[in-house]
Amino acid sequence: MSEPRKILVTSALPYANGSIHLGHMLEYIQTDMWVRFQKHRGNQCIYVCADDAHGSAIMLRAEKEGITPEQLIANVQAEHSADFAEFLVDFDNFHSTHAEENRELSSQIYLKLRDAGHIATRSITQYFDPEKKMFLADRFIKGTCPKCGTEDQYGDNCEKCGATYAPTDLKDPKSAISGATPVLKDSQHFFFKLPDFQEMLQAWTRSGTLQDAVANKIAEWLDAGLQQWDISRDAPYFGFEIPDEPGKYFYVWLDAPIGYMASFKNLCDRTPELDFDAFWGKDSTAELYHFIGKDIVNFHALFWPAMLEGAGYRKPTGINVHGYLTVNGQKMSKSRGTFIKARTYLDHLSPEYLRYYYAAKLSRGVDDLDLNLEDFVQKVNSDLVGKVVNIASRCAGFINKGNAGVMVETNAAPELTEAFLAAAPSIADAYEARDFARAMREIMGLADRANAWIADKAPWSLNKQEGKQEEVQAICATGVNLFRQLVIFLKPVLPLLAADAEAFLNVAPLTWNDHATLLANHQLNEFKPLMTRIDPVKVQAMTDASKEDLTASQTDTGEALPAGNGELAKDPLSPEIEFDTFAAVDLRVALIVKAEHVEGADKLLRLTLDIGDEQRNVFSGIKSAYPDPSKLNGRLTMMIANLKPRKMKFGISEGMVMAAGPGGEEIYLLSPDSGAKPGQRIK
Ligand code: MSP
Ligand code: ZN
Repeated sequence: MSEPRKILVTSALPYANGSIHLGHMLEYIQTDMWVRFQKHRGNQCIYVCADDAHGSAIMLRAEKEGITPEQLIANVQAEHSADFAEFLVDFDNFHSTHAEENRELSSQIYLKLRDAGHIATRSITQYFDPEKKMFLADRFIKGTCPKCGTEDQYGDNCEKCGATYAPTDLKDPKSAISGATPVLKDSQHFFFKLPDFQEMLQAWTRSGTLQDAVANKIAEWLDAGLQQWDISRDAPYFGFEIPDEPGKYFYVWLDAPIGYMASFKNLCDRTPELDFDAFWGKDSTAELYHFIGKDIVNFHALFWPAMLEGAGYRKPTGINVHGYLTVNGQKMSKSRGTFIKARTYLDHLSPEYLRYYYAAKLSRGVDDLDLNLEDFVQKVNSDLVGKVVNIASRCAGFINKGNAGVMVETNAAPELTEAFLAAAPSIADAYEARDFARAMREIMGLADRANAWIADKAPWSLNKQEGKQEEVQAICATGVNLFRQLVIFLKPVLPLLAADAEAFLNVAPLTWNDHATLLANHQLNEFKPLMTRIDPVKVQAMTDASKEDLTASQTDTGEALPAGNGELAKDPLSPEIEFDTFAAVDLRVALIVKAEHVEGADKLLRLTLDIGDEQRNVFSGIKSAYPDPSKLNGRLTMMIANLKPRKMKFGISEGMVMAAGPGGEEIYLLSPDSGAKPGQRIK
């Protein structure tokens, strides 16, 4: 046996200004299953998290509720902890970013960065609410869109026409907090000099720490050049004051990831055998993984490793990014009752149904995952109740009645047992790679084989025949052993089912390696139903209750604050867009009249495109896939014809052609079917 690994795992810290919903749960359940798998295998794996308690949204929300921010975050922490516990998310520690350990670590990291010359200061001009006496983040300014004239739009983008702009471009700006007209005011800000880490990040993000799709996205940001990052906010702000800078606070995203360390530190301080430096020190040999959603990749794959490097800590081994949850094929929606809070789910359904469904659909990519409620009922009922639990319930009764609950020694299906054993490494690999969907498929394939075998042996018919008792007992003992192996494989996903099965099997808590042994001459306990089918009526009740939540929260708190902490420009890998935004894109069939090399450019080709009524000059980064550009001459492709012309080093690019693939040699220009004519619009 190899040495157990030392692994530290985190999930993103949920904001302390709202309830946990099933979208969040996709992340916490996924992380928990991976951590449980590592523990099951005998590795040292520690899972920490915390509430993300700082920021102006939390301050304003507390004010609205007439309580202090400290009270608000304490209430929310209690609520979050209960939700996670009931979903069987087993943190080793769930802390808060508003904690002493975090204040100390944040100050220390900042001072190390400052003393190493990685902090810059300069004055910036921002809108200021003269009534509330506070600077306003973009999301707290509303006004009329400068482009289309729609009223009541946020300070960074227009929901109607999709335009993005600076808050100072808004017409008739108003503070979303007080309604006052904001004034422009200067203030000194502190910046983290991210460009100092360009080279390190280029190497680190390509060293297997990220999934390909994420690494490609980051490469775009790196190619565009990194900017200094504003890490300070002015009072009033709920957060930590910056050392030596009274009245200036750390921006919430500065101390949030440090919250991972702080939560672990808090755990170390009450766990003598845990050593903080062994996990975070520069020379740590422990593994460190952050599980996050795709909207917060820049914070984790750029800012965070740079901060760690600059302050003399180790960097993460991997950032594991997942996509977004949709429900019934659409973004979670309050009016459709699909914006389902963790609590609302728990009021109606058992947590393991959802854990299994997520496992069955989660693979290692960053694609969105759809919770289709009909499929959910069908899949859970057929796989868990119909396949897995069914094996035990088919066999237990005969052993109980026919042999006083004692499993005999005879193995009636040595080949099948052997096949289960042989499948274990591949199932383990799938778990390790976070390809839970493959693990579940393989496990259910085994369950199918076990059921088919029992159906073929039909102990229920044999049992009625004279002199077949021994055979019946051998079949049923074998069936229970196969069930036991399935439970071992499923335990990271279904810890409650596993605990109930252990009670029935009358065994100590099962670990992964137990799959290699069989029970023989073994006394079972009484069999109780291990899982019941999902009643679709309960699912309906849950969505109905989610619609009620909506009405309740509207009357409780009046107008809702913007989602999130109200300061982030969320940057999902593929955010949803309105139909109008899509319709505004002028897509055309284009004829490549000429494709040629560009003197001095490594990646670009110059394309002369015919779009019917005019010719366009487009630079496209596809050279690596088309080393001989003349092969493209005369070919049809598709282009975006109304993209703002872009001035590049080699000339002006008047549009963009469309291609698929990860890059390098794998770039595939798109083409229409034959018959399409240059200039035709694509709809
Ligand atoms: N507080 C920050 C994270 C700080 S980490 C140092 C934050 N909080 S959050 O509450 O908005 O989100 C917590 C996690 O849940 C994030 O990883 C986010 O991507 C994930 N999800 C939130 N909504 C989600 C879905 N609808 N679907 C899947 N994951 C989602 O971001
Ligand atoms: Zn607009």
